[in-house]
Order: sequence, then C-alpha cells, then structure tokens
Amino acid sequence: MSKKIQIFDTTLRDGEQVPGCQLKTEEKVIIARELEALGVDVIEAGFPISSPGDFLSVVEISKAVKETIVCGLTRAKKEDIDVAAEALRHARNGRIHTGIGSSDVHIKHKFRSTREQVLEQGVWAAKYAKEKGYEVEFYAEDAGRADLEFLAKLTEAVIAAGADVVNIPDTTGYCLPHLYGKRIQYLVENVRNIDKAILSVHCHNDLGMATANTISGLINGARQAEVTINGIGERAGNTSLEEVAMTLKVHKDLDLYTNIKSERIFEISHLVSSMMRMPVQPNKAIVGKNAFAHSSGIHQDGFLKHAENYEIINPADVGVPSSSIVLTARSGRAALKHRLELLGHTISGEDLNMVYESFLVVADEKKEVNDSDLLLIVSSMPVLDKP
Ligand code: KIV
Ligand code: ZN
Repeated sequence: MSKKIQIFDTTLRDGEQVPGCQLKTEEKVIIARELEALGVDVIEAGFPISSPGDFLSVVEISKAVKETIVCGLTRAKKEDIDVAAEALRHARNGRIHTGIGSSDVHIKHKFRSTREQVLEQGVWAAKYAKEKGYEVEFYAEDAGRADLEFLAKLTEAVIAAGADVVNIPDTTGYCLPHLYGKRIQYLVENVRNIDKAILSVHCHNDLGMATANTISGLINGARQAEVTINGIGERAGNTSLEEVAMTLKVHKDLDLYTNIKSERIFEISHLVSSMMRMPVQPNKAIVGKNAFAHSSGIHQDGFLKHAENYEIINPADVGVPSSSIVLTARSGRAALKHRLELLGHTISGEDLNMVYESFLVVADEKKEVNDSDLLLIVSSMPVLDKP
C-alpha cells in the first residue's frame, strides 16, 4: 500500500537564515498561507527565542494558518522551550522542534560535553517540551556524522521521553545517499520503540546530494521530509520541496506519496524568490527558467515529434504554462518551421532552407532569435508565400 510522506517546510526558518533573505512578518504570513494551500503538512515558522521579530512571526503564522501544523525551533533549553510554547499558543496544531548535537565533533567542540550529558539533556528537553502540550519533534543535530549506536540510543531515549518525530539531520551535507539510507534503515531496525514515532530526514546540500539523500532516507523508512522552496537554506541550501514532491510523483514505483498540489509549485517558487530577492538558477530542476526549455536541434526535433522524448514531467503538472523552444544557432529546421507556423507562416522545402540560411546568420550574431527577428527575415524574402 502506498505510504504518505509528510512534507515539513522550513523555508521560513532554515531558508530564512540565508544572509539577505530575511522577511518581514507580513511577508512570512503570505508565504505561510501559500504553503498551506500547496499542501505542506508542517510549516516551521521560525526560532522564537532568536529575536522579537521571529517570535512575532510564529505568533502571526499560528493565527493565519488553519489546519497545517505550525512548528517553532528551540535548543534543548528551558527558556527556548518556554518562549516557543508561548509563541505557538494560537496554533490550532502546534509542534515544538527541540534538539541537540549528536555527533562527537559537536559534542566535544560545540557543547564541550559528553555523550552521556547530551543524552540526558536531550531526554530532558523532549520531556519538557511534551509537557507544554504540543507535538514534539526532536532533532539530533549532525546525525549524518554521529556514531550510529549512540544515535540509536538517543533516538530510543527521546521517543521514550515523548518525542513524536525524530529528525535525523545531515546538518553538514556530508553523507552519501546509500550510507544515509543505511543510517535510517539501522534506526528503523534497531530502535525498539520506533513504532511510537516517525523518522524525519533533513538534508543539506554541501555536496549537491540533499535531494538524493532525502529520497534514500524515505526509501529506507523515514516518513517525513524537511525541505525548502527552491532549496534555499544555510550555506549550499536544503533539500528542495519541488524536487522531492516531483521525484515521488514521477517514481510511482516507490509507492510513496505527498499531499503537495504540484500545479502550485511554480507560483510559490516565484513568490519566495521575489520576496527573498534570491534568484532561482536557470538550470534549477523543476522551477528554473530552462527546466522546460529545449535549445539544441536534436532535442527540439525529438520534442516536437513527441514531448515525452525529452520531458519526464508535463510542465502543467508544476504550474509552468508551457515548454519552450529556444531558437539559437544550435536549433534545426524542425524548430524553425514550428515557430514560423505559430507565427502564421507555413514554409517548407527549398523556401524553408532559404529562411534557415538567413536565420543562422542572425543566430550567429545574437544569442537567441526572437519572433520579431523571424518576422523580419520572412518579410525580407519577397518570394515566400505570406499569409
Ligand atoms: O541542519 C540542521 O541540523 C538543522 C536543525 C536545527 C534541525 O537545521
Ligand atoms: Zn538545517
């Protein structure tokens, strides 16, 4: 039976940590409403103790959002948990996301502590957060580099203390997909009370593996994916929502599904990009300007014969109005003929060869040949049949 994957969106927390991407509360509320309409299950709205602005954003998003779970981040500290609980008081469904470092490098060099003390503090935090009456998610920071037996012990202990979700972040983007997947599998197989909680995957993109690691974690038993719109986030970013949602939609064989209304993806990608003043790279999967643009002659010819020759996603499924054929010096006659037809000119045979010669001259001068260039070429050839 197909299994539901919860989508935990952290655009407004991990994403907003990016320098220059800071948003005003009103802007965050607009994005939160769009995330709810998109179908995400959890919105991480901020880190309430970090600033009065973040506190206010969590309060306002809690009021604005209807059914989606609203989540606030904390460290494993009493004051953080108290402030997050206060910020979430208007949420219909609230979640406290608390946790602590789990790798030896974090334990020694960040907390200057020991595994035993970290475990004790983590258990305390999960229990204290649970007493506030919200759902509790526990993050084992830098789990991608943590000793696996210790990670299993910590996971079991925080579940026993009340954690509903345990987040296994690859905080530094260190893991390889098959090894990250094995970590998740190990926890599924070795944590005795794993049936009382779900595992969540939260991957960073330092080696460009964030989406691959996330999918590997899901294949191996995680049931929540932590993502951001356009993959924004600390350093090289987080796993992108659109890549995970569309991978699961395209690969039906995985038997995993989300509630994401994929036709809304393109619009929210633009909203986030413009509000955060963070352009999307043109070759970004799913939402980049070139994601559905075909520019070489061979591809254009194949695409025009049958779109599935070169597209595994129908652009309409992600809200992109249509694919595009970009006319450049690498384009062939098939693409030129097609564009001329759209402009009302049916040209073939020798006439097409003639237009193609002129087209190549213009294309070598300009990077891209547009419709006005084409109309100019056609009008300069009096022998052609004009509509
Ligand atoms: O990357 C990370 O470990 C985090 C945690 C705070 C969940 O963002
Ligand atoms: Zn993170």
